Amino acid sequence: MFEVITIANQKGGVGKTTTAVNLAASLAAAEKRVLLIDFDAQANATTSLGFRRNDIEFNIYHVLMGSKKISEVIQKTDIPFMDLVSSDIGLVGIEKSFYANKSGRELILKKKIAEVADSYDFVIIDSPPALGPLTVNALAAAHSVIIPIQCEYYALQGLAQLLNTIQMLKENGINSSLEVRGLLPTMYSAQNNLSKQVFADLSAHFDSKLFKNIDDDSYIIIPRNVKLAESPSFGKPILLYDAKSSGSVAYQDLAQTILQGA
Ligand SMILES: Nc1ncnc2c1ncn2[C@@H]1O[C@H](COP(=O)(O)OP(=O)(O)OP(=O)(O)O)[C@@H](O)[C@H]1O
Ligand SMILES: [Mg+2]
Repeated sequence: MFEVITIANQKGGVGKTTTAVNLAASLAAAEKRVLLIDFDAQANATTSLGFRRNDIEFNIYHVLMGSKKISEVIQKTDIPFMDLVSSDIGLVGIEKSFYANKSGRELILKKKIAEVADSYDFVIIDSPPALGPLTVNALAAAHSVIIPIQCEYYALQGLAQLLNTIQMLKENGINSSLEVRGLLPTMYSAQNNLSKQVFADLSAHFDSKLFKNIDDDSYIIIPRNVKLAESPSFGKPILLYDAKSSGSVAYQDLAQTILQGA
């Protein structure tokens, strides 16, 4: 088993990083060897695992620039079976050199990941809130993509554009086997009519792309849960902060569904 899963949505603040960190930790808790790649200059995945920006000298930027091998920048995390490739603000500058380097520029990350494929069962990539070269590299490197959808206003705005980009990468051969693993409703509040409306829209249009629980076939919906919002400030995934919280249970359910389909 080796699967690279990119978490993508060019809309900001929809739960990409929360999903990447907590899905990675939940897969690791199931004793799968997981590498989380922070592929966003904001470095939120890095800091939410308890690393400070300046703690780590070398990161994904140096790998993309060719000055370090990916194996040289891998960090152990507090979670057994889970490693991290960190990011920092320097990644902002990389996009220019991606544009300059015309041939094969979409496949740089894919080639770097291939070097450590034997060491992991899953690679989870957290991508930035843009449809630029970094996200294209993250999609080109992936077997599949998970799209978090925030259950709020304008939730579906931009989704068509993202799905078009995915389709384009398939058709032009950059990643002909890329699969949309699923759309993941996030920050759902049962008391909120808008949340219900967004979920109703999602299930009306994309039912086959919603994740279902392996036990009872119910939908997997990530609830709005304060523990999920707090855990990054403690430098921990939700599993180590409050394993029984509704947010933690939902991400563990997601991991189980993914393992079943792997
Ligand atoms: N299910 C949830 N319940 C409560 N808060 C959440 C939930 N999911 C995410 N959050 C919070 O919402 C904010 C945005 O989430 P997150 O950083 O995961 O989004 P993102 O898509 O990665 O954002 P960006 O586009 O900036 O990278 C964060 O403060 C996070 O802690
Ligand atoms: Mg993020």
